[in-house]
Amino acid sequence: MKVVDLGNFDTPVLLFGGPYSNLQATQALLQQAHDMQIKPSNLICTGDIAAYCAHPSETMDLIQQLDCPVVAGNCEKQLAVNAMDCGCGFDEGTTCDLLSAGWFAHASSQVTDEQRDWMHNLPDVLVFTQSGKRFAAIHGGITNISRFLWPTSPEAEFREELGAIEDVLGAVDGIIAGHCGMQFCRDLVDKIWINAGAIGMPANNGSADTSFAVLSSGKPEFHSLSYDVVSAVSAMKSANLVKGYDVALQTGYWPSEDILPQELRAKR
Ligand SMILES: [Fe+2]
Repeated sequence: MKVVDLGNFDTPVLLFGGPYSNLQATQALLQQAHDMQIKPSNLICTGDIAAYCAHPSETMDLIQQLDCPVVAGNCEKQLAVNAMDCGCGFDEGTTCDLLSAGWFAHASSQVTDEQRDWMHNLPDVLVFTQSGKRFAAIHGGITNISRFLWPTSPEAEFREELGAIEDVLGAVDGIIAGHCGMQFCRDLVDKIWINAGAIGMPANNGSADTSFAVLSSGKPEFHSLSYDVVSAVSAMKSANLVKGYDVALQTGYWPSEDILPQELRAKR
């Protein structure tokens, strides 16, 4: 497991996950960071740069140029080794499984060999402190990079991951995660679990806006991100990525709720 210590941040840190090949959303996020006067070294990405949308290589290139800290997501792990799928472990034949075959093949066909090398070298965990609190940034989980921890997951599941992380790193006060695509903060009394959400895909809530977070004085502030959805969808259509995630960018609802706990499924 590759761990990188980023040291201490005495200024706000912008946390974002899931660019998902959405170049327009990534450009909008960088503009937001600029407007908030947050420098690139204070941006932390929780992974899955290349996924559902049209511009995997261009989106990755933008983040590489930015040179901000990035945690490897399952998409980076899988693309780095030329795998055949995203590694989410979707049950065979489910909608997520069938959809992933399309977007993963597109992403894999677009990223360069240099980008595969870059992905291969990404850390699994980033550690840093802010306002006397120690945080670890990961992707899905430590026991399983593709573990889905939802806002409503049992506390025991969060505790299990926290324990596994502390076995490696020692005590932490908070975890910053990505992967599930939903923004939340789970208060575990003595620790917090923050998911900054995803910038590249809406959160299945009926809004086309996406999500990011800013950590200030050790506490998260959640933000929504507006971007040029029309151009992002147009690019997906041009790339023949028209199996549902193109519609999701517009409606705000995911094409499948297979992986979602019942209580989080949209009432449609
Ligand atoms: Fe992921």
